[in-house]
Amino acid sequence: MQLSLTLNGEARTIEIEPDAMLLDVVRSLGLTGAKEGCGVGVCGLCMMVINELPVSACIYVAALAAGKDVWTVEGLTARDPALLEAFVVEEGMQCGICTPGQVVSTYTLKRECPNATEEQAREYMAGNLCRCTGYVSITSSVMKYLASEAR
Ligand code: FES
Ligand code: FES
Repeated sequence: MQLSLTLNGEARTIEIEPDAMLLDVVRSLGLTGAKEGCGVGVCGLCMMVINELPVSACIYVAALAAGKDVWTVEGLTARDPALLEAFVVEEGMQCGICTPGQVVSTYTLKRECPNATEEQAREYMAGNLCRCTGYVSITSSVMKYLASEAR
């Protein structure tokens, strides 16, 4: 079947299997920032933004994205360099496997709750698991982006 959507600001029509998950479809297009971790919607590695809301792309049936506005970490960081800059400056990563998901959730947090306190930010980001860090540098990165100019 054909799927027509907007991907990172560009209108696309893609041939997909009816039961394909959005994560697999997007990665097959070369956008490999989002990763598969748990595959069941609990780790946050596969986060994308659909119509300005965060979704776990590993459990999102791609066909449901028809006509929607989908953004990946690649598109979001190109659109707003301050997003990636916050993680680089605050060293909000170690191995980096969880970082794309952390970055995507940081983007949606700023849209949903731009004045979030550190406690609220930690609560919001709780679905983004990290095996490497103690979350201190990730939280610093999130707070730095919240303090940046919105784009
Ligand atoms: S891979 Fe999607 S939430 Fe874990
Ligand atoms: S930086 Fe390694 S899992 Fe988060």
